[in-house]
Amino acid sequence: MMQSGSPALKGHKLARLLGSWSTGQRPSSGALYRAVRQSVLDGRLPPGTRLPAEREFAEAVGTSRTLVASALERLRAEGLVASRRGAGSWVSLPEGGTEAGSGGWFPPEHAETINFAQATPAAPPELAEAVENARTRFAEQIGGHGYQPHGLHALRERIAERFTRRGLPTGPHQVLVTNGAQHAFALTLRLLTAPGERVLVEHPTYPNALEAVRAVNAAALPVPMVDGGWDPELVEATLAQGAPRLAYLIPDFQNPTGALMSGATRERLAAALRRHRTTAVVDETLVDIDLTAAAAPPPMASFAEERVITIGSASKSFWGGLRLGWVRAPEEFVQRMVIGRAAVDLGSPVFEQLVLAELLGRADAILRSRRVETIERRDALVAAVRESCPQWSIPVPDGGLALWCHLGQPVGSRLAVAAEQHGVRLASGSMFAVQGSLEDRVRLPYTLPIDRLRAAVSKLALAWTAVHGVGADDPWRSPIT
Ligand SMILES: Cc1ncc(COP(=O)(O)O)c(C=O)c1O
Repeated sequence: MMQSGSPALKGHKLARLLGSWSTGQRPSSGALYRAVRQSVLDGRLPPGTRLPAEREFAEAVGTSRTLVASALERLRAEGLVASRRGAGSWVSLPEGGTEAGSGGWFPPEHAETINFAQATPAAPPELAEAVENARTRFAEQIGGHGYQPHGLHALRERIAERFTRRGLPTGPHQVLVTNGAQHAFALTLRLLTAPGERVLVEHPTYPNALEAVRAVNAAALPVPMVDGGWDPELVEATLAQGAPRLAYLIPDFQNPTGALMSGATRERLAAALRRHRTTAVVDETLVDIDLTAAAAPPPMASFAEERVITIGSASKSFWGGLRLGWVRAPEEFVQRMVIGRAAVDLGSPVFEQLVLAELLGRADAILRSRRVETIERRDALVAAVRESCPQWSIPVPDGGLALWCHLGQPVGSRLAVAAEQHGVRLASGSMFAVQGSLEDRVRLPYTLPIDRLRAAVSKLALAWTAVHGVGADDPWRSPIT
């Protein structure tokens, strides 16, 4: 984790990242500690980042060296910062493990902490029966070697059938089973990008996708989402001017905005991808979480098969614990992926694939119940937040699993810090940004049972009261007039 060879973050960059970190009239080491801690937790300061020397740090954030030293001491005690004489200090991972979270990582949560950061539902009741049925099928598999780099044929058939039913004729040879959509995206990036190449991303976007882009040393090229949706002209202009190698798009209930791309926009963007010879990775992780009765737009790949690699997931439709997803692409690309995959892993677990094949066999019924439950939870959350935090603006999404709330003030990270102190783990808007911004947003998932959602909102309201009204310009930082 230690990166003593890498250059330290410049003081002014750190100051920008931390924003207005003092919640009180006077800066305190506690406030600075909380601000740095939150930046580490939400991924703005990734592990390994070297911090500026204490003197530069203090000057950049406008405080004393003693106060910085004391904040760093607390972070060191928690394992979030490590230091060595002569090498300085860097962001670190605490011993004892961490919990993966969207785009950042979190220390282990206390039993009483409500996880309001993860937009992932629990498994449907049908999982138990699917496991039982898979057990019988498993016996047929164990005589073989068990390595299936493409995925189990029966599962690939089921996945292919679902694409065909959605209007995109697909055969099993066009499907590769992966360990989740994130794995599918990471594999695709490894195959298709070289260091320094650009990847167009929606802004805001799914934080772990940004991590994957960073991990291959590609550069994220953000296109803002406008009025809760896509502006095709902006996307076209970015394709033309930025010449990205890849475009990563989430047209179905985009994470975090919940936006659904219309059929007409899909068609138009597909034509632009062809014109600019850019391949799109279309992430359909949330496609099944459709909370409307309207007809779904066709899959993006049906407008430009040769330019679109579709990735999908079992995590939101069924259960994240299966750790299964897939790629749907031209057969030659699937073959390339199978070869490329060997450097990383040699296939997905057979038993879980059998379980997923069972679940897909009764997907319609499972998704119907999931839709009813998700609508109830979404509506309960909207009502609770509107009542407790009436200053926020909350568009109600037609699908997906989270509300993208507008706070009206740039206090998202500060709210997340305060919420954690009240026992609620929260994803602030900055986690979904390419670089620290979107501070006026938070994402609230509606994947918990309604009583837990209400309990979380009550705690959140207390946190909101604590930060509310302390805007970007802390009084102590403003010139005294
Ligand atoms: C848009 C998007 N893509 C990918 C993922 C990760 O999917 P998986 O669990 O299949 O890796 C998520 C999970 O939140 C997501 O929202």
